[in-house]
Amino acid sequence: MTSDGRVIIVSNRLPFTVRADDDSVTVTAAAGGLANGLRAFHEDGDSLWIGWPGDASSIPRSRRTAVTRHFHDRRIVPVHLGHAEAKAYYEGVCNGVIWPLFHYLTDRIPIDPCEWTAYREVNERFAAAIAREYREGDVVWIHDYHLLLVPGLLRARLPKAAIGFFLHIPFPAADVFRIVPWRREILAGVLGANVIGFHTSDYASHFTDAVRSLTAFEITENTVYVNDHPVEVGVYPMGVDAASFTRMADDPQVVAEYKGIATSHQQILLGVDRLDYTKGILRRLLAYERLLRDNPALRERVRLIQVAVPSRDCVASYQRFRQELDELVGRINGDHGTLDWTPIRYLHQSVSPTQLVALYRLADVMLVTPLRDGMNLVAKEFIASRADGDGVLVLSEFAGAARELPEAVSVNPYDIEEMAARLKDALTMEMPDRRRRMAALRQRVAAADVYSWAATFLRDVGDAAVGNRRPTAARGYEGRLANDNLAAVIPSALRLM
Ligand code: F6P
Repeated sequence: MTSDGRVIIVSNRLPFTVRADDDSVTVTAAAGGLANGLRAFHEDGDSLWIGWPGDASSIPRSRRTAVTRHFHDRRIVPVHLGHAEAKAYYEGVCNGVIWPLFHYLTDRIPIDPCEWTAYREVNERFAAAIAREYREGDVVWIHDYHLLLVPGLLRARLPKAAIGFFLHIPFPAADVFRIVPWRREILAGVLGANVIGFHTSDYASHFTDAVRSLTAFEITENTVYVNDHPVEVGVYPMGVDAASFTRMADDPQVVAEYKGIATSHQQILLGVDRLDYTKGILRRLLAYERLLRDNPALRERVRLIQVAVPSRDCVASYQRFRQELDELVGRINGDHGTLDWTPIRYLHQSVSPTQLVALYRLADVMLVTPLRDGMNLVAKEFIASRADGDGVLVLSEFAGAARELPEAVSVNPYDIEEMAARLKDALTMEMPDRRRRMAALRQRVAAADVYSWAATFLRDVGDAAVGNRRPTAARGYEGRLANDNLAAVIPSALRLM
């Protein structure tokens, strides 16, 4: 890798969504951790971003040149997919099978998932697009479960390229991964990378366990030897753009928004999630209901604001989940509300960045209670937004972030009774304890932000590609910074720290 090489970011979802009608073209920021987390990184650097722009069939012919120009200006290379192909790949395999299975929710998988050919073909298409754009010295950074075959397909085309792969969702225990019908092909695909990154050491060791049990490749510590190609497996917990959230917290628009919704007589519990069955929203609401039932004095003195951002609404299991959630919110509000008070304020919509940070500032207690989550950046965004040093984070022990944030109030989202008790603890926590915990959390989130995450990962990919092996203990990081000497090994555009 040369110092003037670019980073080619590759992901299914692009950081922007472009919509066009006969009159105009609008560009909006895409939702989701990956897109949000890496958008600023991309804008500040000189990277190229390759991804699927969504269904282009609705774009009028007269607007296609303008749309292409928007992508070009933002250094984005779209990979267009046909409607049926996208449906089979994105809805069928990615979100119909891999997503639930990697989150241990095997009962959500359809009985006969038969769209694997589409997944393979789309991955081929991405590999071909990367190979077209690639220049010697570039580092290719492939993201997430949509593109598990791409590292291997690309390695076949570019044997010497520096390729990193990062998985943003959990890698399940080897015994669960074995359920995947295409398990060996997936492993072979991912192992085309020089470095494979995970958010936690559990996910990394699940991966090496799977390689051990399903292949004959030799493994020493954190390196898998695919014939003569060493593949490093590392732990890189993703962070957020902490400084920017902290800055926004004092922005006059955020303060005005916050003052508009704040009430002096109610404590606010807050949930902000994509509308996804892995996020634990149903059980969270049941715990809140239990809290109200067990503590009648809290009625009219607390309120839960739940934002559920629309997501994957073409997938049948998401449509069913939305219905279940609507019904539960209606039932709890109907059973427990009064003429003056609605216990749950439920918003099924996106909120603007200003509203989001205002909500984070407003919350007395932030509820991040997924059943399983790769990392969960909402928890870190909340912490970064609490420049006032107050607020309590209630965090599921099954979120990747739990390892790094021990000062949060930890809950098992499957234990409703315990969760209700922890909510009460959080609501009644004394101010010195709240501030002590938040100070520690803020330090961690500020120290390990998205920029240091990206730089550390890219440094390791660069090193691995030129055979400069780092001692195992220094590969990746977990809960510590390892940013020494980055300038020497990462492309100039990425020296953002
Ligand atoms: O968590 C995995 C992930 O790919 C995130 O990066 C992102 O937040 C989310 O899923 C978005 O999903 P989708 O692209 O299907 O809207």
